[in-house]
Amino acid sequence: MDTKQLIKAAKEASIHSYSPYSKYKVGAALLTKNGKIYTGTNIENASFPAGMCAERVALFDAVKNGDTELESLAIYAEGENYPFPCGICRQVVSEFTRDIKIIIAKSENDYVIKNISELLPDTFEFSI
Ligand code: THU
Repeated sequence: MDTKQLIKAAKEASIHSYSPYSKYKVGAALLTKNGKIYTGTNIENASFPAGMCAERVALFDAVKNGDTELESLAIYAEGENYPFPCGICRQVVSEFTRDIKIIIAKSENDYVIKNISELLPDTFEFSI
């Protein structure tokens, strides 16, 4: 699975974005270590905080299926800016790995790659 293929999967996922409020269609494709791909899209709600980001839809689907070994994550959205993951999604990814390639794409040929450790250098971890 190469970078462009994962971006393509994220782009396809963005087609089903439910985003009547922001009109911002985001798609995510998460590749797990066993070679499976889980996709997600953003799902908005009239009660704005009830909405969900594309990345977490994909990640929660993987976790629900017992796949918590993560390889890489592509995020796709068309627009002027690269669709960097929000802070909450960075924290949620960090729960499962501190080493995952994150591909941030505004087209299939225009993307940047970061590791989660760069995007969230100091993560919150629960301890008592
Ligand atoms: N959004 C995502 O899907 N992922 C992010 O990391 C940031 C924001 C969505 C949420 C909302 O539907 C729209 O983008 C505008 O914030």
